[in-house]
Amino acid sequence: MFISEQFFIQFRQNKPFILDVKNKQEFEITDSEIIKTLLDISFDKKTNEEKLSELKNASLILNNSQQAYLLNRYKNILVDLFDTGSSNLFNVMYKLNKKDFAQVFLDTKKTLFHRELPELRSVKNYNEQDVIALPKPNLDKLRNISFFDILDNRQTIRQFQPHTTDLQTFADVLFSSLGKFHNGKDKEKQYEPFYRRTSPSGGSLQVIQGYVLVYNVENLENGIYFYDAESHSLCKEKDIIPYEELAKLLGGQFFAEHCDFAIFLTADIERLRWKYNTSRNYKVVNLEAGHFSQTLQLILTAYDLQTWITGAFMDHLIDDLLDLPNKNNTALFFIAVGVGERKPMHDLMIEALKE
Ligand SMILES: Cc1cc2nc3c(=O)[nH]c(=O)nc-3n(C[C@H](O)[C@H](O)[C@H](O)COP(=O)(O)O)c2cc1C
Repeated sequence: MFISEQFFIQFRQNKPFILDVKNKQEFEITDSEIIKTLLDISFDKKTNEEKLSELKNASLILNNSQQAYLLNRYKNILVDLFDTGSSNLFNVMYKLNKKDFAQVFLDTKKTLFHRELPELRSVKNYNEQDVIALPKPNLDKLRNISFFDILDNRQTIRQFQPHTTDLQTFADVLFSSLGKFHNGKDKEKQYEPFYRRTSPSGGSLQVIQGYVLVYNVENLENGIYFYDAESHSLCKEKDIIPYEELAKLLGGQFFAEHCDFAIFLTADIERLRWKYNTSRNYKVVNLEAGHFSQTLQLILTAYDLQTWITGAFMDHLIDDLLDLPNKNNTALFFIAVGVGERKPMHDLMIEALKE
């Protein structure tokens, strides 16, 4: 008799719940005998047979030790729990033939649109004076550059030199990475009310949003802005913070110093939940941020700008900094942009190596 390692007991508002991360099941414990029975098993004591069979029926007690073990893949209990908790699709669609699958796929879409679509962050009402229309994009540079050169030149650097990005380049980069790049083409109509961008998006829900920290962009007041893809404009959230303060929020990483601007990719989780109510969303948002980050880095490289990227930061402090509207939005990735020598190490690292 083995107690499954794949569940935990959590108290919510003083009430105990069992969360089975493997089977994605949740039970409220309404009888303390359940907990006592689990303890009795673990201390090899005589158990309450009725409760034992309840626990077996719920797959919390197993006969096979292998099935009871938590996959120790990441060698970190929390990560192993996240991994198991967000693994495997739990639906029965795999049983359908192709024709029925196509039908159910479409029906799901139809039923979805009866539910109110959660509004995106961009609908927040900003004061008129806080909204700055960006120059119309001019994508000639992207059209003409060799893809080989972009791949060859992209590199993470960790030391920027003081430099200013011109406003047109800044606008082009935001438009081509986060804006409505394909807008206006007839074949795009099938995606409405969503739209496509230059990176793929889970369910085409476009949950990724961009917040820009402007430090050195020509003719643009420094500040923290939300990039509104709908109107290709910047919406001011706050005044900029000094590089030193930013470094603290990035866990001490000071490599964004002297960047011209930086982008936090955030996710609007509510949108994802609207379509997919599954723990796998945890993986999807992070994968999507990775796609957007890569496209962004390639575009920046095309514009002869360099990047430093990180996902290591104080999430909740960043969410506050960006003034994210509610608990359904979170920052996922950070891209600092500027100009610097093409080398991966900051001078201070090179010096430290010599010592
Ligand atoms: C998901 C992810 C997280 C990263 N986090 C950091 C980080 O916290 N700090 C850092 O200096 N670089 C970070 N990097 C950059 C990598 O160190 C860098 O991509 C790697 O050294 C390879 O160099 P390249 O980007 O020039 O090819 C991260 C990269 C990725 C993809």
